[in-house]
Amino acid sequence: MILRVTIGWDHAGMDLANGLIQGFPGAFWNYDDQSLIKDPINYPDTVPFVVQHVYQGWVGVLICGTGIGMSMAANRYPGIGAALCTDPHMAEMARAHNNANILVLPGRLMSQSVATACLSAFLNTPFQQGRHANRIAQFDPILAHHALYHFPPAE
Ligand code: RB5
Repeated sequence: MILRVTIGWDHAGMDLANGLIQGFPGAFWNYDDQSLIKDPINYPDTVPFVVQHVYQGWVGVLICGTGIGMSMAANRYPGIGAALCTDPHMAEMARAHNNANILVLPGRLMSQSVATACLSAFLNTPFQQGRHANRIAQFDPILAHHALYHFPPAE
């Protein structure tokens, strides 16, 4: 199975993003080419590209300095659950209980090894659905039923 991961970064997240791309060579990555040529990169500029692919079932990753701006921008979109995680357990729970479809990481505050562990947890944890889907439906019915393509479809 090929994991499809779409990633966006700003100037404060570029190094961590590149490290993730190198660290998961088995995944099929895509990113907005504009992110390679602009400096500085305004974090809201990178969000629509990632959101567009997440809507198609790709796993999303967004990285800025703190992760806060990326989270705020991405969570404006219906059907998007962008979870700012600082350790692998948070990344696991973001998938299991919150059906997060974008992992947000703080590029200036996180080591490469922790980022790798967070992404690994995020990629390997399916949404538990059931009561958790009911809770998500209270604020975003689209997200409650959104499925990332490499996990089994929602029941
Ligand atoms: C850029 O300096 C910084 O503001 C940005 O990366 C991010 O942390 C915003 O939330």
